[in-house]
Amino acid sequence: MQTKLWIPEDPSNPKDQSIQEASDLLKQHQVVAFPTETVYGLGADATSEAAVAGIFEAKGRPSDNPLIVHVSNRDQVDRLVERIPDVARTLMDAFWPGPLTLIMESNGSAASNVTAGLSTIGIRMPDHPLALALLEAAETPLAAPSANRSGRPSPTKAEHVRQDLDGRVAGILDGGTTGVGLESTVLDCTTEVPVILRPGGITKEQLEEVLPEVAVDPALAAEDDHKPKSPGMKYTHYAPESPLWLVEGDDEFFMEQLEQLKADGKRVGVIASGELAEKLDHQPVIRCGSRENLAEVAVQLYDALREFKRSEVDLILTESFEETGVGAAVMNRLRKASVRVLSSS
Ligand code: TXA
Ligand code: MG
Repeated sequence: MQTKLWIPEDPSNPKDQSIQEASDLLKQHQVVAFPTETVYGLGADATSEAAVAGIFEAKGRPSDNPLIVHVSNRDQVDRLVERIPDVARTLMDAFWPGPLTLIMESNGSAASNVTAGLSTIGIRMPDHPLALALLEAAETPLAAPSANRSGRPSPTKAEHVRQDLDGRVAGILDGGTTGVGLESTVLDCTTEVPVILRPGGITKEQLEEVLPEVAVDPALAAEDDHKPKSPGMKYTHYAPESPLWLVEGDDEFFMEQLEQLKADGKRVGVIASGELAEKLDHQPVIRCGSRENLAEVAVQLYDALREFKRSEVDLILTESFEETGVGAAVMNRLRKASVRVLSSS
């Protein structure tokens, strides 16, 4: 199929011609990519099984992985869930529109392939004028996973979407680079104490400012131990073209590892903070923000992961970042994306 590319003149106006064209295609149950404040999403009418099937097909996504539903107003939430728990209401007041997905009991109104057969549904209101205008124009909630081919880093630019999905989707709305750079926090609100299932744009610290207690899914901590320690293991998340190796240790340890790999004849690409990059006598290095500003690291991370091509480097070495604030989400993505951890401890 021919993929349309629109740059809306008036991105916050549902009547903008590009947004109208995109929403017309959505009403015809086609699939359209659009920017949110986190990453680009691949949207389809969340109430249509056929439309949602188009998302799974375009991405090559396993059908047992449920999708997030995007809304532009709270009435749309009421129509999708059994009831809104008090804690979810508090969180909507505090963080919507914003990068927080709330898991609630579904009332079955969404297409069954949105929730992958679960009794719950994940919903969020994106904090992006173009996303909100598109939702208004489409007059329906939109199911939208990140707009990458399954297994690839999520797109933070329209160009990333084009790289992955050109010819596979009806259109792409270009809204420039996304502001947060990694996905929303997914929070299960169906339990007594809400549980973070995926760290993201709203930090645990922020949630704790409005909730008495927040838990973290034990599976997230376990991922640490389950990381295959040998290379060549199958990797399926946020994966760059060349294998990513994660270095956990100080700068001296990082430089030792780099020198060793070079001595072994490896072509190594490096992803590093400005602070570490300063110390390296090496090419190629991609600078990914500053240790003093983890939000900046988050914004640049997926772009950095897409930067190195298989033809250029045998492997990519990345430093680790502090796991406070949005650093928790950064490290979650780096652990998932990496095939090997080099640890000094
Ligand atoms: O920032 C974001 O959340 C982006 C933008 C486009 O909004 N979307 C996104 O969607 O990251 P996706 O499909 O790539 O990730 C959805 C995550 C998955 O980890 C999925 O398992 C989880 O949300 N999820 C969705 N519905 C769920 C449910 N009912 N129960 C548990 N997890 C759910
Ligand atoms: Mg994704």
